[in-house]
Amino acid sequence: MEHILKGINLNKTFGTKDQNIQALKDVDFYLDEGELLGIAGESGSGKSTLLNVISGLIRPDSGELFYREQEYTGKDPAHTGRFLQMIFQDAKSSFDPRFTMECSLLESRRKKTDRDALCGILKEVGLDEKLLKRKASELSGGQCQRMSIARALYSEADILLCDEITSALDVSSQAQVVEILKKLNVERKLSAIFVSHDIALLSTLCTRIMVMKDGQVVEQGLTTDVIGTPGNEYTKLLIESARKQSL
Ligand SMILES: Nc1ncnc2c1ncn2[C@@H]1O[C@H](COP(=O)(O)OP(=O)(O)OP(=O)(O)O)[C@@H](O)[C@H]1O
Ligand SMILES: [Mg+2]
Repeated sequence: MEHILKGINLNKTFGTKDQNIQALKDVDFYLDEGELLGIAGESGSGKSTLLNVISGLIRPDSGELFYREQEYTGKDPAHTGRFLQMIFQDAKSSFDPRFTMECSLLESRRKKTDRDALCGILKEVGLDEKLLKRKASELSGGQCQRMSIARALYSEADILLCDEITSALDVSSQAQVVEILKKLNVERKLSAIFVSHDIALLSTLCTRIMVMKDGQVVEQGLTTDVIGTPGNEYTKLLIESARKQSL
């Protein structure tokens, strides 16, 4: 089967004054069309680095990236933006504070402006079109996060890369965003990679999970298998600590 996105043997080392940090070590991954893939792992395990490498924000030291079998290694976000969009934890700072939502969203699309499409998308993410007149600072965190999902959909990207997008939200906004992503996955066959340190959250959203530790993929498989019968000690620890937190 053709994967919509694939990475082979990705490596990335950051050099700092006192040490070299290998943030990605021989990482392989794939994403199928219509799939929600979760990436779990503790702080510093390389999750954001992997998403940044996939989007072209960071160049890998070695390895290859493919979108629908076409290699795109080394291309920058201006190129990758045609097929993927990043969504960040801090939605507010991902919008230009000077612009209204309307300007920001309309600008995200290369093709001709299509107001009907834009209003349809706002409905899908549960936002009133009146909010288009506001700037990011005039929206709640949850509204702003839904706007950034709307922006990605309107830009007609095939794939969303979501980095801890619910971590800054309260429980009810968190649940809302998760429900919207589930709905978009069913209705639009949306494909997304969802990074979180919260394996419990990933297990409610994703069909497949990859677990990272120290820049390596230490476990991957169907969510039911990874959560039900984790093969790796580290995965067991993550699941155990998630269980304790929910008590
Ligand atoms: N620009 C950089 N320069 C130097 N080191 C970096 C840089 N970016 C990341 N690192 C290091 O690479 C490792 C992986 O970082 P990364 O941000 O990918 O982790 P993460 O899994 O996203 O963590 P978190 O859950 O805290 O967001 C860490 O040790 C981090 O300190
Ligand atoms: Mg991170």
